[in-house]
Amino acid sequence: MIINIKPHEREIFRTIGDTAAKLGYPAYVIGGFVRDRLLARSSKDIDIVCIGDGIKLAEQLSYKLRPIPRIAIYKRFGTAMLKFKDLEIEFVGARKESYHFDSRKPAVEEGSLEDDQNRRDFTINALAISLNEEDFGHIVDPFNGLIHLEQKLLKTPLEPGKTFSDDPLRMLRAIRFSAQLGFSIDPETYAAIGRNRNRIKIISAERISSELQKILASPQPSAGFIKLFETGLLSIIFPELYALHGVEIKNGVGHKDNFYHTLEVVDNVSKDTDNIWLRWAALLHDIAKPPTKKFDEQIGWTFHGHEVLGAVMVPRIFKMLRLPLDHKMKYVQKLVRLHLRPIGLTKEEITDSAVRRLLFEAGEDIDDLMLLCKADITSKNTDKKTRYRENYAKLKSKIEELEERDKLRNWQPPITGEIIMKTFNIGPSKEVGVIKTAIREAILDGIIGNNFEEAEALMYAEASKLGMKKKEG
Ligand code: CTP
Repeated sequence: MIINIKPHEREIFRTIGDTAAKLGYPAYVIGGFVRDRLLARSSKDIDIVCIGDGIKLAEQLSYKLRPIPRIAIYKRFGTAMLKFKDLEIEFVGARKESYHFDSRKPAVEEGSLEDDQNRRDFTINALAISLNEEDFGHIVDPFNGLIHLEQKLLKTPLEPGKTFSDDPLRMLRAIRFSAQLGFSIDPETYAAIGRNRNRIKIISAERISSELQKILASPQPSAGFIKLFETGLLSIIFPELYALHGVEIKNGVGHKDNFYHTLEVVDNVSKDTDNIWLRWAALLHDIAKPPTKKFDEQIGWTFHGHEVLGAVMVPRIFKMLRLPLDHKMKYVQKLVRLHLRPIGLTKEEITDSAVRRLLFEAGEDIDDLMLLCKADITSKNTDKKTRYRENYAKLKSKIEELEERDKLRNWQPPITGEIIMKTFNIGPSKEVGVIKTAIREAILDGIIGNNFEEAEALMYAEASKLGMKKKEG
C-alpha cells in the first residue's frame, strides 16, 4: 500500500521517529491523518501516538525543529500540541482506555499500540503508520481498516456497544463520516446506534452541534439526516426537525411529509452553494409547519404563518444547538421569514412595486433567497414544477431588470431622518418617522422616482399635512 506523504511531512516524520528512538519510544502516526491520506483528502492535523510519554517526545522534538515550533502542553490529559509550519501535530502516549476523546476527562493507564488502536472509534480511524527505523512507513492495521476503506465501510474495531459506550458521540461521528465520505455503516454497528441512542444525552451540545455542522456541510446532507432519523438520534438531539416527519390524513386529504421535503430542499440548495448558513436556512425554512398546521374543511391542510413563527423559532434553535447568535443567525432568520415571498409573487402578475419591496427587504441577501426559493420547488407534479420554474425564471429576470434600473440593493431612501430634523428644526420624533415612511413607501410603490428632488418635494408635502414649516434662514 503506497501512502501519499508530502516531502515536508516525510521529513518531519523521520525527525519524530529519530527523536522517539532516542527516548526508547516506538512512535506512530495514527487516526484521521492516515485515513485521509489513503483517501487522498487533505488534512493538516497529525496525531502521533508513542509507547511512552507523549509530552516528553513533543518537548524533545521542539528543540530540534527550525523554525522553533509553538508548543502547548496539557499535563492533565498527557498530551502536547505542536504547531510547526502549516501542521498541527498532537502527541499522546498510548492508552488502554478511551477517555481522552472527551477532553474533559483526564489521562488514564498506559498501554501498547494495540491497546490504543482497540479504543478508537472505527477501523478506518485505527490505522497507524510506523515511524520506527525497522519498518518506517509501514501500515499497522489490526482490524482490516484498509479493506474497509476499500469497501467504503464504517465499522467499530470492538463490539460496537463497547466502542459507543466509551464515547457516545461516536454514534454521531459514524453518521457524519458516512455522509462526509459517502461510506455505508456496517449493519451491526448501525443497529447498535439505535440501541444505544439514549446515551447521546450525556454528550455536550457543543460536540453534537459540531457533528451536525459537518453533516450539513457534506455533499448530500440528506444521507446523514435520514440516518439520524432512522437510528432515533434525531428525536433526541433535534426534536423540532424530527417533528416535521409524517403525513396526516383527514377526509381523505393528506399533506406532504415535511421532513423529506425539507431534506430535498437542503440537498437542492447544497448543489448550488457551500454556504453553511444558507444550508441552515434550508433546513429550518419549514420548521414551524408542525405548530401552525390546521385542517380547513374547504381548503384542506394549511400552515399559515409558518414563515413568521419559523423566524421566531430560529434563535431558540440556534441557542439549543450552540450555534452563533450573531449576524449569521439573523441571516438565517431573514431567509426563513422571507422564503415564501418570491414564489408568492409569481402567483399574480409580477408588479414592479412588489419586486422593489422584496429587494428592499432582502437587501444583499436577495440572491441567496432566490437560491432557497428555487431549491424549495420540489413538487412531484411535473406540470406544476415546470410552471413554478418558469415563474421563478421570470421573477429572476424581473429582479435583475429592476436592480439595474433602481439599484435597490442596500438601498437607503434619499431623504434621511437627519435631513428632516434639520429642515424643520425638530428633534427625533414621531413626525420624522411618518415622513420617512411616506417617502420610502412612495418610492417602493413607484409613485415618485428614487431621487433627491422628488423625495424632497414629498417631504415638504407630508410635513405641511402635519402642520410643520421649514426652518427660516
Ligand atoms: N477518535 C475516537 N473517538 C472519538 C474521537 C476521535 O476514537 N470520539 C480517534 C479516531 O482514531 C480519530 C482520531 O481520534 O481518527 C482523531 O480524532 P479527530 O481529530 O476528532 O477526528 P478525525 O478522525 O481526525 O476526523 P475529523 O478531523 O474530520 O473530525
